[in-house]
Amino acid sequence: MQRRILFVLSLIFISFSCTKKTDGTLSIKSPDKEISLDFKLCDARSPLYSVKLGETEVISKSSLGLDLKTNNDLLENFEIVNSKISNFKETWKPIWGEESEIKNEYQELFVELQETTSLKRKMNLRFKAFNDGIAFRYEIPEQRNLKDFTILDEKTFFHFTEDHTAWWIPSDYDTYEFIHNESTISQIPEAATNEQHGHSRQKNWKGTNTPITMESPNKDYYLALHEANLQDYAGMTVIPVKDSPYSDYAFEADLVPWDNGDKVRTSAPMQSPWRMLIITKTPEELLTSRMILNLNEANKIKDTSFIKPLKYIGIWWSMHLGVATWGQNGRHDANTENSKKYIEFAKEHGFDGVLVEGWNKGWEEWYKDDNFDYVTPYNDFNLEEVAKFADDNEVELIGHCETGGQFESFEKRLDDAFKLYERNKVNAVKTGYAGTPYGENKKPYFHHGQRMVKHYNDVLKAAAKHKITLDVHEPIKPTGLQRTYPNLMSHEGVRGMEWNSWSDGNSPFHTCVLPFTRGLAGPIDYTPGIFDLDFSETPFKERKLWNKIGGLDNPGGMHSTLARQLALYVTLYSPLQMAADLLSNYENHPAFKFIEDVPVDWSETEIVDAEIGDYLVTARKDKNSENWFLGALTNEEARDLSIKLDFLDEGKAYKATIYKDGKDADFEKNPELYEIIEKDVTSSDSLELNLAAGGGVAVSFDKQ
Ligand code: NOJ
Ligand code: CA
Repeated sequence: MQRRILFVLSLIFISFSCTKKTDGTLSIKSPDKEISLDFKLCDARSPLYSVKLGETEVISKSSLGLDLKTNNDLLENFEIVNSKISNFKETWKPIWGEESEIKNEYQELFVELQETTSLKRKMNLRFKAFNDGIAFRYEIPEQRNLKDFTILDEKTFFHFTEDHTAWWIPSDYDTYEFIHNESTISQIPEAATNEQHGHSRQKNWKGTNTPITMESPNKDYYLALHEANLQDYAGMTVIPVKDSPYSDYAFEADLVPWDNGDKVRTSAPMQSPWRMLIITKTPEELLTSRMILNLNEANKIKDTSFIKPLKYIGIWWSMHLGVATWGQNGRHDANTENSKKYIEFAKEHGFDGVLVEGWNKGWEEWYKDDNFDYVTPYNDFNLEEVAKFADDNEVELIGHCETGGQFESFEKRLDDAFKLYERNKVNAVKTGYAGTPYGENKKPYFHHGQRMVKHYNDVLKAAAKHKITLDVHEPIKPTGLQRTYPNLMSHEGVRGMEWNSWSDGNSPFHTCVLPFTRGLAGPIDYTPGIFDLDFSETPFKERKLWNKIGGLDNPGGMHSTLARQLALYVTLYSPLQMAADLLSNYENHPAFKFIEDVPVDWSETEIVDAEIGDYLVTARKDKNSENWFLGALTNEEARDLSIKLDFLDEGKAYKATIYKDGKDADFEKNPELYEIIEKDVTSSDSLELNLAAGGGVAVSFDKQ
């Protein structure tokens, strides 16, 4: 039924305006005609593309091609044997998301290339121009002279035309858990300020992971470079090309390799992931671009009844704080009795789910090969009993599969693990790949290479088969696959809340950058909502219960006011949101009401005001009511913002409950000071937001 409605709502117009063999330039424009993309072959008959926003050249002529292992590269000596320009337009409804309808509208150019030399191999290119950016991919069709092949290098260039300010993380092949650097393109990689490469084995990084987000020197346009629909291919990083003759601000794609330097082992027919560049005139518009979803295929899961956005609590923060342990070598919080207490609390306070980490055996040496079987509980935990108790109380128990990076052993045991969960009506599972896939035996795989990309996709499909939704920690960066497999709910792949408990913590700047960078890739399971902001009840010396690999060597630091913790539920999008603190910190806390009220599924999203890295004001409308919610954040600087409430539905009255920083609040000196104020408002009012240094404001607007 749902599928039928979907189909009726979609308007699809496809028209072919050009099919020809040509030597000239082929051009497409975005539907609003603002963005244009040109394609042609250069003198050596290599493919070249360039991109404009209005009259401004955003990407100057940049070449495309594939370096193959056979030495017969697919780089030059091509002719255009066919080309086709078409238009596409549809509106589709995501199962969950930041809005209830998404427009997908673009002009497409499909170019069929063939070598003029003896092998006459074919390589096709598909380009799309949307109102919010461009994308392209390589397509290798089935053919006689190219069957199985290995890509040694993707010769994809991005010749930017100005020395943009960029927000970027190192092109580490194993982890994305960094604070972003802010520098000009020409200062990459030297300007890296973060030293936290502890998880990485790849020390000689030269470029950046994606998304990398850029602001033009005159602040007249914004760019975000990323990839979409990454399935059986290596993850892409980009490295600056310092001596490029064509552009001073060039990047080249650098794919994450296998151990011998191969990048992608594949066979025809093959399609690469989309290389996508969001192009907007304001930072706000970056956040409402849905190009990444539009570059993925429509939902393939027929029965989606098991897929539900969840607000959850869990047995989690106590282990990160170090007052409890995942295994039984310390206080073991994941026991039956404690899990039931969480379920009762969830029911009482309207939470949908309870995560229990550390219920299954193996945590004492969790980094060892084959250490978890994913199904055997510790003797103080009864999975059947807890799962039944959850089901009886209409709360979802969220399962946990920490692999310690031992993905091959997880693959062997996956079916048993998912069967056990399915049998116990556990429909949501958090997976984890802490450490790296090397594990004890130092396997020759980088975390973001083709082998692992395939692993994550296989797990996703297996989960769908068992009616399980996933929250993937230490994932491959999201690339929009949740459109096709909406059981892929959320990901980490970010320096999340856990870092505040055992490292020097995440700066206020960090969460003012994330929505514009990693957030453009997909939902973030950041796990906000910590109310005890100086851990005063649990001094560091009493928190040293970590197992030997945990290595708690830093007392942590939240670097946040309390109101900011609330604002994160709106500014960081995820269909799964955790209230991460210990339950005792929520009992009888007036500000907890905001976390109880805030939804996790939205019908509308409006970015009210933003400067990347400085501040952000986001408003969203609940998908299941008429209520709106707002979150505002600032970086290390206190800030007063006056915002118009014109996002509210016109002519309607709302009661605004404003959770704001107290008068002397400060993220380091006085983080827990807050005030709650109520006000009657309509869409013609404005609101003065006074944000403390490292602070925030959260507002719920209840329709009267
Ligand atoms: C790292 C994950 O990000 C965190 O959420 C989890 O608690 C630990 N690994 C243990 O699985
Ligand atoms: Ca992590």
